[in-house]
Amino acid sequence: MDFNLTEEQLMVQQAARDFAQNELLPGVIERDEKGVFPADQIKKMGELGFMGMMVDPKYGGSGLDTVSYVLAMEEISKVDASASVVMSVNNSLVCWGLQEFGTEEQKQQWLPLLASGQIHGAFCLSEPEAGSDATSQKTTAIDMGDYYLVNGTKNWITNGGTASVYIVIVQTHIEKSSKGINALIMTKDMPGFSIGPKEHKMGIRGSDTHSLQFNDVKVPKENRIGEEGFGFKFAMKTLAGGRIGIASQALGIASGAYELALKYSKERKSFGTEICHHQAIAFKLADMFVNIEAARHLCLKASWDKDNHHNYDVSSSMAKLFASQTAMDTTIEAVQIHGGNGYVREYHVERLMRDAKITQIYEGTSEIQKIVISRSIISG
Ligand code: CAA
Ligand code: FAD
Repeated sequence: MDFNLTEEQLMVQQAARDFAQNELLPGVIERDEKGVFPADQIKKMGELGFMGMMVDPKYGGSGLDTVSYVLAMEEISKVDASASVVMSVNNSLVCWGLQEFGTEEQKQQWLPLLASGQIHGAFCLSEPEAGSDATSQKTTAIDMGDYYLVNGTKNWITNGGTASVYIVIVQTHIEKSSKGINALIMTKDMPGFSIGPKEHKMGIRGSDTHSLQFNDVKVPKENRIGEEGFGFKFAMKTLAGGRIGIASQALGIASGAYELALKYSKERKSFGTEICHHQAIAFKLADMFVNIEAARHLCLKASWDKDNHHNYDVSSSMAKLFASQTAMDTTIEAVQIHGGNGYVREYHVERLMRDAKITQIYEGTSEIQKIVISRSIISG
């Protein structure tokens, strides 16, 4: 077992840390307050190679491993989880799915643009009546010979308004249930494709979340990803990697809050001493530190599994389950350590607490991760 990071991984980590401090930190409070999408910052992240980290250099990507991706996601998420969800969706749900299962034409058309940050993508699975219960897809794609006729609604789509390419999960043969599902590449200039109003959210307020409506949208057959009926497996396999991204986002939110709480506790005095010397505060810091370290190990283990071609369905669910709980627990305690200052915007921890909650909901709720994990334990 080797717990050392390679020189390349350390360089990626440092580059992400510098970018987060220099380019994301300024303005993060204002973007959160006003719900402003970090468009310029995302472009720069593309230029630095953070938007297509695992994409093969022959398609314009950085050609890095998943461990590097986790390290970068942690650093970006420490400062701005709204930027990191764009990064996570683009890297794990859009680029990875296309690279792994797309045709050569699809890869050549989309990956260079996506990996360089010139455009970004969206992944559209959830519907008003199909969130956790993802096989109950109601968006239909009727086979019309050389195209599919798509009708339906997708909910809660990250990058819904700003994306240029959408991977949309649709039901073609309802009688076949999950085996009748397809994954289609769609663009918003397709007639009948419309975008609902932006959602007003508790956290990750700089990210861009919309519902999408499809009304008789004609999608050419060559836009299907994989074989007919592969769409549900495509979604599940893609989400296993996506969950590593969101686990790392949760890890970053937790470690960002911990670092702020530690610093504050060494500066703030009460009863004649820095508050870190009160055992009640010191023990909170110890709990945070241990949980963050455990979450980091789970994230790195899942990414190592992926890089080494082991099955990572369960390790990614474990990482997401634990890291998202750690993000919630750590941010709540970071606010507590800041006292009244924790409750106001300029100290950052209240934002991190609001941002933490979504990591227990999207890309499979914590209850869904427990279903994946428990099924695997029980079936042996
Ligand atoms: N890899 C390959 N195939 C898989 C798979 C995997 N990881 N998981 C399931 N499958 C296959 C099964 O083998 C089965 O195929 P067969 O019929 O051929 O055996 C088929 O898919 C159906 O699987 P299940 O019977 O297990 O389906 P289920 O109805 O019990 O649901 C579930 C399983 C794990 C609960 C799934 O519905 C799920 O993950 N739900 C959560 C949805 C989710 O995560 N949504 C996230 C949306 S994207 C997002 O949120 C992005 C963002 O915020 C930024
Ligand atoms: P439901 O499925 O209705 O669940 C409600 C509650 O019941 C949850 O606590 C759930 O855990 C629990 N529950 C449901 N079934 C079970 C069960 N069998 N056992 C135990 N408990 C259960 N989706 C996309 O496709 N693409 C995106 O880009 C995207 N981005 C998102 C961004 C934001 C900000 C948000 C809020 C959501 C996003 N989602 C996206 C949707 C997200 O993945 C879903 O909200 C999530 O999967 C839960 O689905 P739901 O909201 O329908 O909740």
